[in-house]
Amino acid sequence: MPTSPIAVIVLAAGQGTRMRSSTPKVLHRLAGLPLIHHVLESARALDPAHLVVVVRHDRDTVAASVLEVAPHATLVDQDELPGTGRAVEQAVEALPADFAGDVVVVSADVPFVDLATLTDLLARHREAAADATLLSAFLENPTGYGRIVRRSDDSVDRIVEQKDATEKERAIAEINSGTYVFTVAALRTHLPFVTPSNAQNEKYLTDVIGLLTLNGGIVAAKPVDETWRVEGINDRAQLAVAARRLNDRIVRHWQLEGVSILDPQTTWIDRDVSLAADVEILPGTQLKGATVIEAGAIVGPDTTLVDTEVGEGATVKRTDATLAVIGARASVGPFSYLRPGTILGADGKIGGFVETKNATIGAGSKVPHLSYIGDTEIGEGSNLGAGTITANYDGVNKHRTVIGSHVRMGSHNVYVAPVRIGDGAASGAGAVVRKDVPPGSLALSVAPQRTISGWVEAKRPGSAGAVAAAAALAADGAEHDQKSANDEPAE
Ligand code: UD1
Ligand code: CA
Repeated sequence: MPTSPIAVIVLAAGQGTRMRSSTPKVLHRLAGLPLIHHVLESARALDPAHLVVVVRHDRDTVAASVLEVAPHATLVDQDELPGTGRAVEQAVEALPADFAGDVVVVSADVPFVDLATLTDLLARHREAAADATLLSAFLENPTGYGRIVRRSDDSVDRIVEQKDATEKERAIAEINSGTYVFTVAALRTHLPFVTPSNAQNEKYLTDVIGLLTLNGGIVAAKPVDETWRVEGINDRAQLAVAARRLNDRIVRHWQLEGVSILDPQTTWIDRDVSLAADVEILPGTQLKGATVIEAGAIVGPDTTLVDTEVGEGATVKRTDATLAVIGARASVGPFSYLRPGTILGADGKIGGFVETKNATIGAGSKVPHLSYIGDTEIGEGSNLGAGTITANYDGVNKHRTVIGSHVRMGSHNVYVAPVRIGDGAASGAGAVVRKDVPPGSLALSVAPQRTISGWVEAKRPGSAGAVAAAAALAADGAEHDQKSANDEPAE
């Protein structure tokens, strides 16, 4: 770790034109986190005395995102002069006048530069007693990056941007990663002399390198071994490549922690997800946000969990869940839709084609088939029939349904909220429950069935139904005649 105080400057003012997006580039997400959060994490890990973030485009949105993870960062607003050089110049002006340490400069669009890389770079800088040390990389395809022009003795001469480079310079494989250490003195001395006389009419930070070497300064360059760490993200194709790479690393990390991931290619795991040993992830699964999965749970296939907790030994199959809590050994899916505020107790069940929202379903309680359960509380050990609907919305307000423990409610019930069902209550099929049902009571709301015998023969003589009925009645004979003695006759 560094011994003298350092400042870190994060460059985040650029527009990110190449993303062609209404979202600022540095807020595009990688493994669930905005690009700039990845960079801020490494920056903060250096424990700098000053952390300065330069913003401009979509200033307020970017600033708010920065303060989420770096509440003590100093935000500097870049003025109308464009370029990384201008950004750093203004950031340096925001440092205390007596700050005399080293300045680490990182770009918000280069997300994989980690603490170890920055620490090594600082060490190299101090070892070389350099005025500037840049992190470089030899890339197979250096297109788009600034190239490092070296002298015949191999020392760094200057950096030339892609757009300003000659054909010969474009053939240079060593690129500037956009990550540097400068003495603050080097920046204070040379930035005022950087001019925007280049292809992009911008004040380039990279021009400080040429000014330094021209004036007898010492510039060191440290190539990285893991070249992917310095890949910048300027368009959506690069973003997708970076996302794949990071996901591969996250998947591998969890595999080594004891998680079975059957198909790494179709499993996407956000950076802040947490998985216990012996979790099994089946193909086509996306685990997002702060999702937590406990030991022995089986998740997937084709499941998306956002900020969801899955308890030990639970099974979650072909499910979409957001801000839900699934208890130990509970079973969810297939084809379940758990919306925010769903809390399923231990050993509970949310079955096929069930949608839940703001619903607490107690331990061992089951909503097994084809239901909508919203704004509802269900006690323990209860069972709701197939096709249960909680009618929670009267067109103006939402109301709650409260169902007790050990109830046995029939199929195709509608609970017209607000309504309460007592412990141990029961209901018949098709009940429309508008009034509270006391504990232990049976609720029936459907009129007694009328059966009109001979109706088909009377109304649809000669139809396939009438013929089939006649044959069945003939076969049943006397037995049937007796049974239907009480039925109403057809008119
Ligand atoms: C920059 C470097 C290039 C390097 C590459 C590495 C310069 C002139 N060029 O090019 O040598 O190979 O990064 O990824 O520095 N930004 C500001 N203010 C501005 C312009 C940009 O804060 O006025 C920020 C951007 O938000 C971004 C970073 O600086 O986070 C880099 O800017 P970008 O325009 O992406 O530079 P590159 O063309 O990639
Ligand atoms: Ca860039």
